[in-house]
Amino acid sequence: MDTKTCKLSVANENGRISVLQLTDAHLFADEAGTLLGVRTASSFKAVLSSILNQEISFDFVVVTGDISQDYSVNSYKRFAHMVSVLEVPVFFVPGNHDDGPLMYRIFGDFGVHTERSLVCGNWHFIFLNSEVYSVPHGWVERSELNFLKQQYEAYPDLNTVVLVHHLPRLVHSRWLDTQTMHNQDEFNNFISNFPNIKLVLCGHVHQEVDEMFNNIRYISTPSTSIQFEPYSHDFALDMQGPGWRYLQFDPNGQISTQVYRLPAGRFVPDSGVEGY
Ligand SMILES: [Fe+2]
Repeated sequence: MDTKTCKLSVANENGRISVLQLTDAHLFADEAGTLLGVRTASSFKAVLSSILNQEISFDFVVVTGDISQDYSVNSYKRFAHMVSVLEVPVFFVPGNHDDGPLMYRIFGDFGVHTERSLVCGNWHFIFLNSEVYSVPHGWVERSELNFLKQQYEAYPDLNTVVLVHHLPRLVHSRWLDTQTMHNQDEFNNFISNFPNIKLVLCGHVHQEVDEMFNNIRYISTPSTSIQFEPYSHDFALDMQGPGWRYLQFDPNGQISTQVYRLPAGRFVPDSGVEGY
């Protein structure tokens, strides 16, 4: 696995970094593949088109897991081809629906960055694995925590963002909280030792979360495919449109961010389904 640090220069002269977050695309080998009735390649394409139409600028893209729904090489190839329209570097973490080792083997050939550490201006982005083979919940291994510590200590003065698929917080949705990062107390306690960690940026919960805990901001972002209904006791889908997130990082440690969505009604999932 790649342990090199990628270094990118900041385009903006005031040192502000702009980042696009995409998450939980759930693509298939088959372009017509559907997740609970939504053609995920179509919703992902619509999200990319909407981003391009807004003419916003960003230095790079981060993808917080579940790029694939079927673990196939072709789903990853499709993702790399589609996201290349944004014409900026793309970084990722694997999700529970991904084949992480496969991604690290093939993505370099498809133009997606496989480095797990990125330094850009006054900020350091560290990409962690929380995937547990063949189960939906997450767990961050001690080796990953050690990687985080080692990376942090290489640039201790930089503002730091940790990217990981599983949000290490409960969302108060009983069914979804069974799939949370199971060692989140250990994880949150561990990262609280590093005062320059400002943000933990996640996917997995297919909904917007933005909260402070232990003086660290925890953010998750809507999926580019289907959405889960917040605070639902049992599995339920939210009929809001596919989404993505724009973040700006100032040299002094300030973060500003906004979620964007496609209008509801264009990619409507099957509301009668009872599981995911
Ligand atoms: Fe997902």
